Amino acid sequence: MKGGIDDFKVMLTRNEPLTGLAKAVVFLVIFALGVVAGLWAAAGARPSYIDPDIIPRQPLYPPSSSSSGHGVVCCQPDPDPAFAQFVAPTRLMHDMTDEELFWRATLVPAANGYPFRRVPKVAFLFLAGHGVLPLAPLWERFFRGHEKLFSIYVHAPPGVTINVSDDSPFYRRQIPSKETKWGSVTLMDAEKRLLANALLDFSNERFVLVSESCIPVHNFTTVYSYLVGSEHSYVESYYRNTKQCRNRYSRWMAPDITLRQWRKGSQWFELGRDIATSVLTDTRYYPLFRRHCRPSCYPDEHYLQTYVTLRHGAVNSNRTVTYVDWSTNGAHPVAYGAREATPELVRGIRTSREPCTRNSRPTNVCYLFARKFTPDALAPLLNMSAAVMEY
Ligand SMILES: *[C@@H]1O[C@H](CO)[C@@H](O)[C@H](O)[C@H]1NC(C)=O
Ligand SMILES: *[C@@H]1O[C@H](CO)[C@@H](O)[C@H](O)[C@H]1NC(C)=O
Ligand SMILES: *[C@@H]1O[C@H](CO)[C@@H](O)[C@H](O)[C@H]1NC(C)=O
Ligand SMILES: *[C@@H]1O[C@H](CO)[C@@H](O)[C@H](O)[C@H]1NC(C)=O
Repeated sequence: MKGGIDDFKVMLTRNEPLTGLAKAVVFLVIFALGVVAGLWAAAGARPSYIDPDIIPRQPLYPPSSSSSGHGVVCCQPDPDPAFAQFVAPTRLMHDMTDEELFWRATLVPAANGYPFRRVPKVAFLFLAGHGVLPLAPLWERFFRGHEKLFSIYVHAPPGVTINVSDDSPFYRRQIPSKETKWGSVTLMDAEKRLLANALLDFSNERFVLVSESCIPVHNFTTVYSYLVGSEHSYVESYYRNTKQCRNRYSRWMAPDITLRQWRKGSQWFELGRDIATSVLTDTRYYPLFRRHCRPSCYPDEHYLQTYVTLRHGAVNSNRTVTYVDWSTNGAHPVAYGAREATPELVRGIRTSREPCTRNSRPTNVCYLFARKFTPDALAPLLNMSAAVMEY
């Protein structure tokens, strides 16, 4: 081979007329160089003149399974249901433990703004201790036409499915639940579970706890703007030197909670998103209630009231938006049945005689919800809903 190339060089330097063999060799060499240059240009040079912007972006989820480097270049990103489900889960049943759920629920975006159109919603948290919602037809009327502005979460006893039709806003809105016992800390656990599940939807802005015997006394538009436009949360909070308040305090809670900090109030709260998140991050005060607030101390009447006043007092109204009549001084409030559920009663709750304050201004609209109504009150309530409650 070496000899051949040397002969070729000699022939070229001698400047002699090329023989037939030499001509063929020169032709082959030039042809081979041309092929190599062509392949190089086709393979190596290509990326330098293709605009990177027209190369399709790889979808982030799911990770691409095909990694073949050459040939067909992929195409359309897969639609991404995972992002929509992350931002607003539509399937509420999950297998997270409370610990996992509460941790996830307290994740707060560090970025300003949202990469989607966020319309603030009111989350209605239904504590359905008996596994039924007898007043659901009234609530369905209240919710109708406002589907984008609310979400519903129901905590019913484990294993119980609430019987509603598949076009009801309550359909498939039950969350994973645990047994609760009246007056015990398990009730507060259930309330926290409702809050946590609702926090997973990033559009939920206000969180209101209601029960199976609660009714809305104003229409949705009024309730929505009242809550979403409020500068304060509505957690009733007060201190009284009485058996039902002072005597429920345990000295074992000091020094974290002193008697001066001890509060009482209605179980039926309404919270803004920041406070709702804060409640689920609390590992300092809650264990004290678990240990030292036992009958006749009721955590649902003291924990949130004390915690919110301690940590978020300035943004709490210290009153509740859920009307209830304790005037009989018993262990349970007055219940309204078919005979008591009159337009006069509901009108009196809708417009209070004594004004309260909202956003630092006096108003006579102090209550948005009322309890407690028994199942037989449903018929008269439905009958008056348009004329009295304006829904
Ligand atoms: C559920 O409700 C429907 C309609 O009211 C009724 O026909 C049905 O028997 C109920 N089912 C159960 C299991 O209660
Ligand atoms: C809702 O109630 C408010 C105040 O009571 C009233 O002005 C408004 O017209 C009602 N909205 C509807 C859609 O009925
Ligand atoms: C509620 O009580 C807290 C603590 O006592 C206080 O800081 C706050 O100003 C009160 N809220 C209103 C609206 O008065
Ligand atoms: C329904 O309301 C009307 C007034 O709007 C009243 O006359 C009637 O007695 C009510 N019916 C029932 C069953 O309560």
